[in-house]
Amino acid sequence: MSIKFLSIAVQYKWCIPMLPDLRSELRALQRQNRYRAVRCVETCQEPRIRIDGRGLVLFCSNNYLGLATHPALKRAAVEALNIYGSSTAASALISGYMPPHAELESRMARFLGTEAAIVFPTGYAANLGVIPALINRGDIIFSDQLNHRSIIDGCRLSRAQIAVYRHCDIAHLESLLKTAASYRRRLIVTDGVFSMDGDIAPLPELVSLAEQYEAILMVDDAHATGALGPRGRGTFEYFGLSPHAIDIHMTSGSKALGASGGFICGSADLIALIRNRSAAYIYTTAMPPDACASTTAALDLVQRDAGLRQRLWRNTKIICERLRAMGFDLAQSQTQIVPVRVGDAQRTVAISDDLYHRGIYLYGIRPPTVPEGQSRLRLSVMATHTDEDMARLFDAMAAVRRAFF
Ligand SMILES: Cc1ncc(COP(=O)(O)O)c(C=O)c1O
Repeated sequence: MSIKFLSIAVQYKWCIPMLPDLRSELRALQRQNRYRAVRCVETCQEPRIRIDGRGLVLFCSNNYLGLATHPALKRAAVEALNIYGSSTAASALISGYMPPHAELESRMARFLGTEAAIVFPTGYAANLGVIPALINRGDIIFSDQLNHRSIIDGCRLSRAQIAVYRHCDIAHLESLLKTAASYRRRLIVTDGVFSMDGDIAPLPELVSLAEQYEAILMVDDAHATGALGPRGRGTFEYFGLSPHAIDIHMTSGSKALGASGGFICGSADLIALIRNRSAAYIYTTAMPPDACASTTAALDLVQRDAGLRQRLWRNTKIICERLRAMGFDLAQSQTQIVPVRVGDAQRTVAISDDLYHRGIYLYGIRPPTVPEGQSRLRLSVMATHTDEDMARLFDAMAAVRRAFF
């Protein structure tokens, strides 16, 4: 508690009685095994990391292709830093938009095959910004039950009617769409690859429903861009769809691209409207120039080097086959995101701690990130994991299996 906050609290007497109340909320989080403490990673985001001086193998990073430490990304960032400095120091619409932003937006649009793109500082900001910019009261949003929190928050901010459909359940979605003809606009929004389950949205069916019921289709491909599809263009490419089948492409630079930024891609008019309307774009400082430059460099690499994806899928296959053979429940995972289902939050924390002491860093995911009773270890595979890294994982998981299951 800062002194400043306390003195304000004392001045306005209403604050003081609230403090014990807040403290009891914190204690409740601890009691329910929902408390989260940060651990400081003292190295780069590579498979071998150090925390508190202890060497660990990292199995919970979204740096799927290992690009976060790639020399080409570092070089691009340093060059941009030298030319443009460390901050944009203003909103993009005031004076914060610089050549690295223009370059990144046009490269991202070209990469995905859309007319235009807009860069937000993060993927979270992109989702929060785009939905209320287009959808408001009098409209309706159809949102997959397991969509990412940034989509949920964007939906809430829009003040539209929200209809949550059962996870990937096309029949349920259609039954909801049938009752929504009177709304001004209909938006269907889904993760491409689900962030906590690693399964893939049924995109061809969603595209058909969107057409049939005149709905806008938005796909959050944060975990698919760079990873899925022959050229790493994401879920639509994985299914052999045209980019134009999706009205609003959302993605993040901070996962397989190993960089940063949030992106909305689509028609030139759509992007122009978002640039003019989105509070999360207008009322924040534009992404730093060096971050733009490293993301652009990552786009070059993912297109040029299909070997990165081949290594990712090779490692994913080895890990999934071995863990399933050991008897672990990996749900419906189809990708590099591999949920190891545990169920109980307390047991999940205990297993994660046990693995930590065995030299494996694998984070336990608990409510509210996942529903009650569905806690899990969210394992994410990297193209840069070596056979030795995986062997250490299997030894530790075998020990955990004996001790906890
Ligand atoms: C599906 C999904 N969308 C959006 C985001 C937010 O992206 P960013 O990390 O760039 O803010 C995430 C991040 O975890 C995500 O998993």
